[in-house]
Amino acid sequence: MSFTRRQILVGLAGLGVAGLGAGGVRYWLGRPENVATHDYELIAAPLDLELVPGHTTLAWGYGGQAPGVELRCRQGERLRVRFVNKLEVPTTIHWHGIRLPLAMDGVPYVSQAPVLPGEYFDYDFITPDAGSFWYHPHTASSEQLGRGLVGALIVEEREPSGFAHERTLNLKSWHVDAQGAFSEFSVPREAARGGTPGRLSSVNGQHAPTLDLPAGQVVRLRILNLDNTLTYRLNLPDAEARIYALDGNPVEPRPLGKEYWLGPGMRIELGLKVPAVGVELALRNGPLRLATLRSAASAEAAGQWPPALPANPIAEPDLATAETLSFNFEWAGALSVGVAQDANHTFWQINGQAWDIDDKTCADRPIARLQLGKSYIFELRNLSQYQHPIHLHGMTFKVLDSNRKKIIPYFTDTYLLGKNERARVALVADNLGVWMFHCHVIDHMETGLMASIEVV
Ligand code: C2O
Ligand code: CU
Ligand code: CU
Repeated sequence: MSFTRRQILVGLAGLGVAGLGAGGVRYWLGRPENVATHDYELIAAPLDLELVPGHTTLAWGYGGQAPGVELRCRQGERLRVRFVNKLEVPTTIHWHGIRLPLAMDGVPYVSQAPVLPGEYFDYDFITPDAGSFWYHPHTASSEQLGRGLVGALIVEEREPSGFAHERTLNLKSWHVDAQGAFSEFSVPREAARGGTPGRLSSVNGQHAPTLDLPAGQVVRLRILNLDNTLTYRLNLPDAEARIYALDGNPVEPRPLGKEYWLGPGMRIELGLKVPAVGVELALRNGPLRLATLRSAASAEAAGQWPPALPANPIAEPDLATAETLSFNFEWAGALSVGVAQDANHTFWQINGQAWDIDDKTCADRPIARLQLGKSYIFELRNLSQYQHPIHLHGMTFKVLDSNRKKIIPYFTDTYLLGKNERARVALVADNLGVWMFHCHVIDHMETGLMASIEVV
């Protein structure tokens, strides 16, 4: 299931829809009026979903679906997306995990001005690494991601990988009630703890779907956690599954084992040997079934396990000369009331500093300054009882070790820092700019757990 860019464009144009909904005209997809200037026209707009049978959820989507339309491009090539905002609120797109120039990073007031209703913005960058990435706004994130503005960005390898079959599984739990109406995306008492959980699990926008996979084949499953707050304890009982990549970077293939903890923003790629026809596997979060994987007849000869995926061109940090910086993630527990009527909660801080999402100048006060080209070791210390998926924009880091678990060093953009865990990661500061460094539990990020790191 691998499309070329052109096929997708034709497909999108064919699907172009403008319909009338309760909220007025709802434009979904459009054909790029000028293919010479961009490869995709991606529209954010209101979207009616039927998440709960018989009920309508007033979601927001990219390209007429939520999770959004899957964007694909090839490693080392340029991706050009004309993003059109047909929402009634300002927004941006951040390309999670992509090493790109700051101007394309989608952070309001740092990378760009917010894209206002009715405006468009041309994103244009090269995708240096192959893997499973994703995109989402970096504005009013609890609500915007919560309503469905999340989507997969798949960067294909330069040469075909050994996988003949693949599926993308977008995990998202929705903050909806039994009638499909949105409940609060962030509740202070939850934001101060593990984050406000959604109640309805979904895979590719459907609750507990059954997905057919070709019997006897080895299928590449790209599992993306696009959730606001949930860490999935992923397991696939009785399955023959191997890990091929973590968060967009290949690893030496190894068995999935009992369980893998996939925090918000994180991705895992598995090779799954699909069993004989009729056998069903359960993809689960702990004991809860997320999806049923059903094996369907396939005319092909049994598939073989593909070799490891090729490594991405990420600079190897020089640990001998690296400078160590410490980052403490802790509970702040303060409650400050802003000048506006709305109370502004601060529950979290990094090295004693809490990010204020209403203060457009926070990024002007970076928590660390790195010298371009130098190697650094970040010592990440979680001084709280809750886990934090720690994410860095603009650069990929290597996880070295942890005081809590055995680490086989690997490259990533997000590390799930467990309760009271201390871990070390390293990187080469090879991308100039001001980069967000935050917890990807969205309501932690919005209540203090964010900072900026500058590379000069
Ligand atoms: Cu998924 Cu600031 O990022
Ligand atoms: Cu990011
Ligand atoms: Cu957190």
